[in-house]
Amino acid sequence: MTPLRVGLLFGGRSGEHEVSIASAKAIAAAFCADENAQKYELRPVYARKDGVWHDGEIAAGVLASGTPLGDDGGTTADRWQFPPSVAEIDVWFPIVHGPNGEDGTLQGLLQMVGVPFVGTGVLGSAVGMDKLMMKTAFASIGLPQVEYIAVRRDEIWSNPCVFPKLCDRIESELGYPCFVKPANLGSSVGIAKARSRGELEAALDSAASYDRRIIVEKGAKVRELECAILGNDNPQASVVGEITYDSEFYDYETKYTDGKANLLIPAPISDVVAKRIQELAIAGFLCLDCAGLARMDFFYLEETDEILINEVNTLPGFTALSMYPQLWAATGVSFPQLVDRLVQLALERS
Ligand SMILES: Nc1ncnc2c1ncn2[C@@H]1O[C@H](COP(=O)(O)OP(=O)(O)O)[C@@H](O)[C@H]1O
Ligand SMILES: [Mg+2]
Repeated sequence: MTPLRVGLLFGGRSGEHEVSIASAKAIAAAFCADENAQKYELRPVYARKDGVWHDGEIAAGVLASGTPLGDDGGTTADRWQFPPSVAEIDVWFPIVHGPNGEDGTLQGLLQMVGVPFVGTGVLGSAVGMDKLMMKTAFASIGLPQVEYIAVRRDEIWSNPCVFPKLCDRIESELGYPCFVKPANLGSSVGIAKARSRGELEAALDSAASYDRRIIVEKGAKVRELECAILGNDNPQASVVGEITYDSEFYDYETKYTDGKANLLIPAPISDVVAKRIQELAIAGFLCLDCAGLARMDFFYLEETDEILINEVNTLPGFTALSMYPQLWAATGVSFPQLVDRLVQLALERS
């Protein structure tokens, strides 16, 4: 049997570049394990922060060292000159998190090339990345969510008369605390919890520096539960996991500093809550036309027993310690089986 050439595409132009390298390293190891070693030939392809792609020894070197390559002065034209070996790839496994990787842009490129790829296509990736569009889509099928207000950058920056009215409206409709978020980032970048008018004004100003589209949400006292989805038209849900931490919320530092957050798998919740989360997770996955994989994140308000869908991650963190593969391991799918299944789902969909 000729092994299938898998293009493991990692790195990318977002702030989650380093996380992507760590995810790719774990995925590469899984392609070399068990039966995968005979079935697949791994071809790492590294997208530098400036968008230039490398294959072969350079890409393998970044994977092995875990260290990103600096910009060597590549031009826009270099970004359109992909290494010739990419033409030999049979199936792509993109594991590039955040903007320009998880938001449909990369998926559009792979779609145009006409080679099967792991994960969600252009539509679901783009809608899933934009918190405002995602919430609109989830609302259209009646999924429960926190109350929120959509804000445009120009309401914050351009007219000094509009801004106080906007803050008044947020105070009266949502109150404090509230969460202010750029619509299109991830990893909690640019997100702030506001407890007063002063903090709200600063948070809006800061979020506007990241994005033209901003979302303000009612802040709730929440437990954070996550469910992993695997499949295409008939997706399966994993056991539910929980994230706990001591910080104010699950911010960037808590996410990426060792020991600041704990993963509880399975989450200590009732079977009824777990089942409901699995159902909502599958409904959200199908609603956005997701494919292959996604991690669906929820807020559980224990006092009122409410379950609210928070967000979808169409290319979730995929290191050996990440929630997505750990949820599947606890559900009976090992890391090597998981990557094998994802490639098969990519081929099935194409
Ligand atoms: N409405 C909210 N109520 C309470 N906590 C929130 C709310 N929104 C966000 N958070 C906190 O902020 C974190 C990051 O928000 P999230 O919307 O998941 O952004 P990201 O896409 O960057 O992960 C959440 O995991 C949670 O800890
Ligand atoms: Mg999140």
